[in-house]
Amino acid sequence: MARGYESAWQDLGRNDPFFGVLTAEEFRKERLTPEALAAFWLSGETHLERLHDLFKHHLDRELAPATAVDFGCGVGRVLLPLARRSTTAIGIDVAPGMLEEAQRACASRRLENVELRRFAESLAVVPGHYDFFHIFAVLQHVPRPQGMAIVRALLAGLSDGGLGALHVVYQLPRRSAWRRALRGARGGSALVRGVANLCEHKRWREPYMRMNAYDLNEVWAELQNHGCHRVFATFTDHGGARGVLLLLEKQTTVSL
Ligand SMILES: C[S@@+](CC[C@H](N)C(=O)[O-])C[C@H]1O[C@@H](n2cnc3c(N)ncnc32)[C@H](O)[C@@H]1O
Repeated sequence: MARGYESAWQDLGRNDPFFGVLTAEEFRKERLTPEALAAFWLSGETHLERLHDLFKHHLDRELAPATAVDFGCGVGRVLLPLARRSTTAIGIDVAPGMLEEAQRACASRRLENVELRRFAESLAVVPGHYDFFHIFAVLQHVPRPQGMAIVRALLAGLSDGGLGALHVVYQLPRRSAWRRALRGARGGSALVRGVANLCEHKRWREPYMRMNAYDLNEVWAELQNHGCHRVFATFTDHGGARGVLLLLEKQTTVSL
């Protein structure tokens, strides 16, 4: 059975996948115009271009992986442009609806080097080694112990000399006690969630997207444990959720 946070994503994947990825009203299913859809896909291209430029500028590395993994790929916003730079691109997500949408997007663009996988309990779904991984806007929705297990598994599977783009939120938006209580209630029964949703001016059936902050000390320790010898950090801020996007390189010979 899906755990709480996973079933919220499964709901979103089934009912409103584009809004689940970028939470803005124009990406709601019933409002999605061709222009909004074009802007959605462009945002993924722009994101990847920026990563490419940052890797080049700060780590003097080209982003041209043999095997790339996009963990929590959603509908493929970043996975699709990543596939164009990679020999093989693997997209992993917990929500079947997201993966179906990504599959449709790949087929309509005739992208044949993409593999889509459902993440269940372990990262054993990632075959062997990969030389690039990307995880963006995902970990904050995963409880910290499971999220750190994902970080460790992604770092362990990265080949020597490989690159990673790891996004971690370290501080949640500051909220009043009343707003915190409402958010807590949204994690409760369907009825309680519905009422709390209305109080927050959201839709009755809006799934609860859990937010979790991570301890950056723990993350840095894992980077060092896994032989990441160069890291470039840039800040992110999503509606007051403050984070860092860490661009990392694993050293060629790892001494643990
Ligand atoms: C906000 S979306 C971001 C999608 C994509 N990374 C992007 O930037 O376009 C978060 C995605 O993470 C997925 N997700 C959440 N928890 C996950 C988990 N434990 N394992 C795999 N995917 C997960 C969700 O289903 C959703 O597609």
